[in-house]
Amino acid sequence: MKKILELLTEEMQAAFEAAGYDKELGKVGISNRPDLCEYQCNGAMAGAKVYKKAPIMIANEVAAKLADSTIFKEATAVAPGFLNLRISEEFLAGYLQEMAQTDKFGLEKPEKEKTIIIDYGGANVAKPLHVGHLRSAVIGESIKRILRYAGHKVIGDVHMGDWGLQMGLVMTELQERQPDLVYFDETYTGEYPEEAPFTMAEFAEMYPTASAKSKTDENYRAKAMEATYKLQIGVRGYRALWKQIMNVSVPDLKKNYGSLNVEFDLWKGESDVQELIPGMVQYMKDGGYAYISEGALVVDVKEETDTKEVPPCMILKSDGASLYNTTDLATIMERMKLYQPDEMIYVVDKRQDLYFEQVFRCARKTKLVNEDTKLRFLGFGTMNGPDGKPFKTREGGVMRLENLVSDTKKQMYTKILEGREMSQEEAVKTANQVAVAALLYGDLSNQASKDYVFDIDRFTSFEGDTGPYILYTIVRIKSILSRYQEQGESLESLKLSKAGNEVEKDLMMQLAQFGTMMEAAATDIAPHKVCAFIYDLANAFNRFYHETKILTEEDAEKKASWIALLIFTRDVLLTCIDLLGMEAPDKM
Ligand code: ARG
Repeated sequence: MKKILELLTEEMQAAFEAAGYDKELGKVGISNRPDLCEYQCNGAMAGAKVYKKAPIMIANEVAAKLADSTIFKEATAVAPGFLNLRISEEFLAGYLQEMAQTDKFGLEKPEKEKTIIIDYGGANVAKPLHVGHLRSAVIGESIKRILRYAGHKVIGDVHMGDWGLQMGLVMTELQERQPDLVYFDETYTGEYPEEAPFTMAEFAEMYPTASAKSKTDENYRAKAMEATYKLQIGVRGYRALWKQIMNVSVPDLKKNYGSLNVEFDLWKGESDVQELIPGMVQYMKDGGYAYISEGALVVDVKEETDTKEVPPCMILKSDGASLYNTTDLATIMERMKLYQPDEMIYVVDKRQDLYFEQVFRCARKTKLVNEDTKLRFLGFGTMNGPDGKPFKTREGGVMRLENLVSDTKKQMYTKILEGREMSQEEAVKTANQVAVAALLYGDLSNQASKDYVFDIDRFTSFEGDTGPYILYTIVRIKSILSRYQEQGESLESLKLSKAGNEVEKDLMMQLAQFGTMMEAAATDIAPHKVCAFIYDLANAFNRFYHETKILTEEDAEKKASWIALLIFTRDVLLTCIDLLGMEAPDKM
């Protein structure tokens, strides 16, 4: 379906043309003065220069051509030359009726269905997930859902950090505690045990302990580096232990991400591409891209137009070891081979932006990607505490994601039980859904690149621009609909008729914007646009609700039309919250 603004624009363009002006002037947008009109067109202002005529004269002539329009109810020329517009209620209702009956509310397929890989999550195995990982996970997940809904083939990859020093640290700590484990016996040739030599609880505490020790104890750190090295060169026992660590960590990570409705298609990690590195290095050398500088192998990536210094991309250190970017480049190479993506999007802390600039340039220069492969870095800002500094626990430590989620759920549970009749089981389920919505919406409603303040009291409030407010609105609609059914009525094949007052019309106009919003959210990979849209929609609905006695209305046709409008509003809201990773309860 064409977007509503396209249809309004076409009508306006025809009027400009009929009045003898260039039709390109007829662009219609949403009014920025809703007190004066619903839509507006500023084309006469632009036309004045071209036609050397007072803008108000042009506007008057165009307005006259719209006198009999079935799309515009009112087109008024106002000084100095704006066209103030109101849409016809019949037309609007017809448009919504068609939207409601069309797949995806009439959203058109993209010109080209692209294959897009989203690299998000970025958990480091063995290290606990912290709140920084929250942002990557929830933003990436939402972008995945938005792009999929928009009609693309999207693959989400968690890209775990599973090959670095943290692995060596955990192994060293394990060796301190259980020196006799067969994994550390390099003469051992038998099978390794199936059971991991630690419990999840022990494992969770091992990395922080090891990391603290390595900061004060040189010797310990050297051991951890050696263990990392042994793992990387393939010493049997270390590889076997690595597998054990993965077997314990990955299910735990899945559970943690799952608690936020985050799901990945691929559980790949840095380790998966290690074998590709030697070949890639050779290729970069053979192509004349990489050269030795101060012992290290590098690729120059600076460009003439640079205003800041962009250092060379280091491929191998002087000791031959690979680095974070070596792995990222090898991953790009592997993704091109396996999936031929048109686009790769990285959802990572914005402090890594120079790093990704280097990686992307290097990938392009060395032709690891095709000329038209799009590499996009979506850098997100920091989640701050109320003091404006990066969010910490009350004790000042790094907050674990797990604790953040469970604390929020507990807080919400108390709130849900207050003054509500609900079984404990239902209260737990509802509290979880509302708490997750509070966290997700609190994050996603901000433009990703900006820092934001994590304010749990505000995020969990049932009023204002919050996830719980949106859910509350959906629950309100659901409850009216079930009461309507209790009156013995059916929710099937109800017809929308034209709006009878301003609040109703306002709600309809808001719904009509769905397609425009979706296109913008997908093109700009911007979940906050979905949030802003549903917040406006929820507000428009609640204004309508407060002014309308729906269930006691005697005019059956009117009542049925309102119910149809409610169903439509509910469906649009449910679709949108799903794009954010949120779920709505039946009661709250
Ligand atoms: N593991 C990294 C971190 O915690 C994030 C990974 C980001 N993705 C990537 N392809 N480099 O900082």
